[in-house]
Amino acid sequence: MNIDDIRALLRGCDQTHLLRFWDDLSARQREELIGDLLRVDFEQVARLIPTHVQRVPDAAPKARIDPAPVITAKPGSQRHREGAARGAAMITSGTVAALVVAGGQGSRLGFDGPKGMYPISPVRNKTLFRLFAESILATQRRFAGTVPWYIMTSEMNDRASRDYFAANKYFGLDSDNVIFFKQGVMPAIGRDGKILLDDRHRVAMSPDGHGGTLRALACTGALRDMATRGIEAVSYFQVDNPLVTPVDPVFIGLHDLTGSEASSLAVPKADDLEKVGNFALVNGKICVVEYSDLPEHHARARNPDGSRWLDNASIAIHVFSRRFIERLTDDIHAVKLPWHRAVKKVAHVDLDSGRRIEPESPNAVKLEMFVFDALPLADKTMVLLAKRSEVFSPVKNATGVDSAETARRDMIRRAADWLQGCGVAIPARNDGEPDAVLEISPLYALDAAQLAERITDKPTVPPSGTLYLE
Ligand code: UD1
Repeated sequence: MNIDDIRALLRGCDQTHLLRFWDDLSARQREELIGDLLRVDFEQVARLIPTHVQRVPDAAPKARIDPAPVITAKPGSQRHREGAARGAAMITSGTVAALVVAGGQGSRLGFDGPKGMYPISPVRNKTLFRLFAESILATQRRFAGTVPWYIMTSEMNDRASRDYFAANKYFGLDSDNVIFFKQGVMPAIGRDGKILLDDRHRVAMSPDGHGGTLRALACTGALRDMATRGIEAVSYFQVDNPLVTPVDPVFIGLHDLTGSEASSLAVPKADDLEKVGNFALVNGKICVVEYSDLPEHHARARNPDGSRWLDNASIAIHVFSRRFIERLTDDIHAVKLPWHRAVKKVAHVDLDSGRRIEPESPNAVKLEMFVFDALPLADKTMVLLAKRSEVFSPVKNATGVDSAETARRDMIRRAADWLQGCGVAIPARNDGEPDAVLEISPLYALDAAQLAERITDKPTVPPSGTLYLE
C-alpha cells in the first residue's frame, strides 16, 4: 500500500486525522506511522465504533446463573485410565499442539522483559519458558511423538522472546517445532470515534487481549500450519503458571473422548472473592464469569451443606479443537468472540497543538477479547475438575498473593507431595511446610506416577537441605 491508498482507506472510515502531521514527519517517522496503520484492522474498528465506543453495548438481559457441571478423573479411576490412554495415543500420533499466551510483560512483577523469562524454579531458578520447554520435551520423549509449540508474543516482547529461545538452543526442542506468532493490536479510540495518536507519527495501540490469540492464529498463518501438520487439539495455557502441565494427556484425552470442542480445567476457589474467572451455567451454556462481573451475593453463596455454591475457578487452561478455532475465525474481520470495552486514560497528541496530553480522567475506549468467551460458542464443552495444588499457582504480583514467593512455595509443596508418595521422608518445619528446597525437573518426572517409576534409590533429604532431581 502506498500513502495514497492509505489516505483513501482512512477517508473511507473517517480517520484521516491520523495523517494530520504527515508533512512534518521525517522519512523514518513516516515509515513507522505506515507500519502502525497497516496493523490496524480498520474494517473491524469501523464496525465497533458505533456499538462499543460511541455508546455502551446493550447490557445482556439479566441472565440466570447456575453452577456449571464438571467431571472428575481421579488417578486410578476408569475415566482417568481411559483419558490417559487416549491422550497418549493422540500425542504419539502427532495430533496435539501446545500453545502459550505470552503477550504480557512482567511489569506487575517489577520485571523488565517478557514474563516467560522470569526465573522461578526453587533450586535451579529456571525460567517459566524453560520449565514449559522441558515439560514439552519430556512429553515428546514419554509418548514418542512430536508436539509443536506455538508461542504467542506481542509487539513489545516478540524479539526478546525469540532471541532468548535461540540463545538457549530452544532448550533441546527442534526449532522447527517452536512457532512464534505475534498477537494483534487494537487502537485506543476517543469517545468521538477518532483513533488517538500516541505521538505525531505513532498510533496509540494496545494488545487485543488473549482472545486475540484466535485472530492472530488465523492472520499469521499459524492455524494453517497446524492443519498442515495434522494438529487436531490445541492445549492452551498462560505464561504465568509454573505448575501447568503444558500437555496433559488425561485432559486432552477426555476432551477427545467426550466429543468436546472447547474444554477447560477448573480448580476449587481459594476464597469467595478470589480474582479468577468462575465457571457457571449462564442461560444454560457453560461460561466463564470474571470475578469483576460476578455479583457478590453469588460469589458468597453457600449450599445447604456449607460448601461454596460457585466453587469452580477458571485457571486459563483449555483444550480447543483446531476445527473449532477455524470456525470462529472464518471471517477474519469479524472473529466470533465478543469485544470487551474498558474506558481508560490514554495519553495522546492534541491534533490542534501537536502537543502530547496526559489526561486526568478516562478519555478513550480500549477493546479486548477474552479467549474463554469461546466456550459458550462451542457445540460441546467439557470442564474437568483438577487438584489445585497440582496445576495452579500463578505468578502475577511482586509480593503477596499469586507472587513468585507463593509459586515457589507451591512448587516445593508439590514436589514434597510426589516424593512422599514414593516413600521419601521430607523434613517438616513447625508450620507444616517442607523444611527443604525441592525441585523435580520435568525431564525427570512429569507427574507423581512417573516419579514413582523413575525413583529407585530413595534420596535422603536432611532438614533445610536441597534436592534437585534431573
Ligand atoms: C486471567 C483470567 C482469569 C483467570 C486467571 C487465572 C482474564 C480476563 N482473566 O486473569 O479468568 O482466572 O487469569 O490465572 O484473562 N495475555 C496476552 N495478551 C493479552 C492479554 C493477556 O498474551 O493481550 C496473556 C498474559 O501474558 C497472561 C495471560 O494472558 O499469560 C493472562 O492475562 P492477565 O491479564 O494477566 O489475566 P488475569 O487478570 O491474571
